[in-house]
Amino acid sequence: MKFLVRGGKKLSGEIDVMGAKNSVLKAMAASVLFDGVVNITNVPLIEDVFRMRELLSDIGAEVREEKRKLSISTDKLRGDTLKKSVSERLRASIVLAGPILARQGKVFFPYPGGCVIGKRPIDVFLDGWRAMGAHIKETSEGFEIKAKKLRGTDYFFRVVSVTGTETLIMTAALAEGKTVLRNAALEPEVSALADFLNRAGVKIRGAGTPTIEIDGTGGRLLKATEPFRVMPDRIEAGSFLILGAVLGKGIRINHCNPEHIMALISALHDAGVEVKIGEDWVETKKPDRFSPVNIKTREYPGFPTDLQAPFAVLLTQAQGESIIFESIFEGRLGYVEELKRMGAKIVPCDPHRVIIAGPTELQGREIETPDLRAGLAFVIAALLAKGKSVIGNVYQIDRGYERIDERLRKLGADIERIE
Ligand code: EPZ
Repeated sequence: MKFLVRGGKKLSGEIDVMGAKNSVLKAMAASVLFDGVVNITNVPLIEDVFRMRELLSDIGAEVREEKRKLSISTDKLRGDTLKKSVSERLRASIVLAGPILARQGKVFFPYPGGCVIGKRPIDVFLDGWRAMGAHIKETSEGFEIKAKKLRGTDYFFRVVSVTGTETLIMTAALAEGKTVLRNAALEPEVSALADFLNRAGVKIRGAGTPTIEIDGTGGRLLKATEPFRVMPDRIEAGSFLILGAVLGKGIRINHCNPEHIMALISALHDAGVEVKIGEDWVETKKPDRFSPVNIKTREYPGFPTDLQAPFAVLLTQAQGESIIFESIFEGRLGYVEELKRMGAKIVPCDPHRVIIAGPTELQGREIETPDLRAGLAFVIAALLAKGKSVIGNVYQIDRGYERIDERLRKLGADIERIE
């Protein structure tokens, strides 16, 4: 599947933000900790959700979906093995290992999907599970983890890890006694997960701060008292805001949480882009000129690494030199080679830094999508470029952006899905 894009057209109108991919996947995994049905609303209909649904069904969960609401029952849970053919397409599948281990006392999961944005190690997961009393056997296929009894522990993350924090919160939820997680991730999706578990019978304190305490239930399953409503996807909102800044005559982004994208709004301001901020919407348009901006990606609330590639496309239009410092992942700047083939002037300095000189006119061409966030950057670049582009491997984009071509056409974009 590919996208055929004809660039150079100005965009205008309104676009709604869908539920957050990096929140719904964790709520789906958390359903394994529950007795009875877990309902999740405002679900984005994206490929990663369909893969997580397959993994849950593989271990015996029943998952029903209607009008963006998932109802998950794990009463007939029988499996404890994550299927390689699915988990290798979904890095986030590892978050399912924590709840399965906590509930079944054992889990087998294959080496996580090779992600093109770095080697994506899982040492903080393994160290955290060991600290709670689990035994880990590494085989040629993956990891077999067993724990007769999971006990609370005091664990310091050697590196801030979003899914590491979420997975160990979920493992600690059913452990015996209190767990303290130190140097934990501050992302809003972590707090949303903790709030949901707090309302279901686990005492969790400090989510959203570097130190989180979990009073485990000692094995008693949780009970959902209300649905988990998925928050707006801050990365989708940010991607559309950048698109509006690059090509918009006036684009309004609805159903978002402006507070979650303040680092981007601040960087756009420095680039000379005016952003109007409402209660649950933001609005922007293309300025007369873009000023160069140096950005450094950081853990939340810093500039999100998932918006680094889309922002790089904007910087190719700035009057002068900008530096991007990708501090989170070591392999997340590879996409610049494709932008250079489109005419961008980008000099890689080291695995973490590039210098972008602008403004440069981009030419449309055939491009292949390495990961979903670079994929969205290529869509923005193709819509900006002169002439026609064909973007390959759009499964990567469909993993995290629902019906993106259809929604962008509503803004006036000339983009269509072709074989
Ligand atoms: C989450 O990935 C997100 N994915 C990523 O979004 C996001 O880019 C990332 O957080 C950072 O914000 C999901 O939530 C499903 P990390 P995660 O563990 O948790 C190193 C997207 O496009 N590390 O916070 O996998 C790691 O290599 C995706 O939606 C270890 O060294 O990222 C990285 O350098 C891409 N050992 C750093 O920590 C470990 O055991 C942060 O990674 C785990 C991580």
